[in-house]
Amino acid sequence: MSGGRDDLCFLAMGFALSLALLPLLSAVDPGSLQDFCVAVEDPNNSVFVNGNLCKDPNRVTADDFFLSGLDQPGNTSNPVGSKVTLINADRIPGLNTLGISLARVDYVPNGGLNPPHYHPRATEVFLALEGKFYAGFVASNPDRLISKILNPGDVFVFPAGRIHFQYNIGSTAGRAVSGLSSQNPGIVVVANSVFGSGIDPSVLARAFQVDRELVEQLRKKF
Ligand SMILES: *[C@@H]1O[C@H](CO)[C@@H](O)[C@H](O)[C@H]1NC(C)=O
Ligand SMILES: *[C@@H]1O[C@H](CO)[C@@H](O)[C@H](O)[C@H]1NC(C)=O
Repeated sequence: MSGGRDDLCFLAMGFALSLALLPLLSAVDPGSLQDFCVAVEDPNNSVFVNGNLCKDPNRVTADDFFLSGLDQPGNTSNPVGSKVTLINADRIPGLNTLGISLARVDYVPNGGLNPPHYHPRATEVFLALEGKFYAGFVASNPDRLISKILNPGDVFVFPAGRIHFQYNIGSTAGRAVSGLSSQNPGIVVVANSVFGSGIDPSVLARAFQVDRELVEQLRKKF
């Protein structure tokens, strides 16, 4: 009888513990707790929920949910020949707590590259509008490349946290739009993080099984 009660008690504790750990296991934006929560700078005029501080709903206007100018291409004059214009909650305050954002990506013809990178908090749905892309992501365990040639009108998914890229192999400028499942997807560009972050060259030489000279060369570029 008392053994049964102990079992029950144990189960209840286990249940309580798993509930307590749930937030740690969640890898996506928490669900929104209200219709919207427009970001506001002035803490005296706001209520804190999640994400940024929220504007008083009575003072919210259509412009809090609006942005224009995305018909203009980004500046692709850079070594990789691509430009990501990310529209997150910093650009449209009305996106705060809604768990979604958007990017326009432009590529130069014949080799414009959105280099291997990943978004720690977002899955990406990519819509090719112009150009011809060699695009892919790397699945883990075991590492495996999942890639595809994309033409205008094609859609491809890059799952959250997976290293992915798009390379414009077409002879015209490339243009694409991406939806991302976080108001703040975050971005880690692999080459910049590895070679541009100040990791000691000995570590990189050993990790990549190359000599220090090559590592120093790569470090200078990032
Ligand atoms: C908020 O209110 C306090 C107290 O009235 C004031 O000192 C502070 O400057 C205000 N902050 C802003 C950002 O308006
Ligand atoms: C594009 O970026 C390059 C390199 O930063 C710069 O020299 C050029 O002026 C920019 N062009 C425009 C139109 O902003």
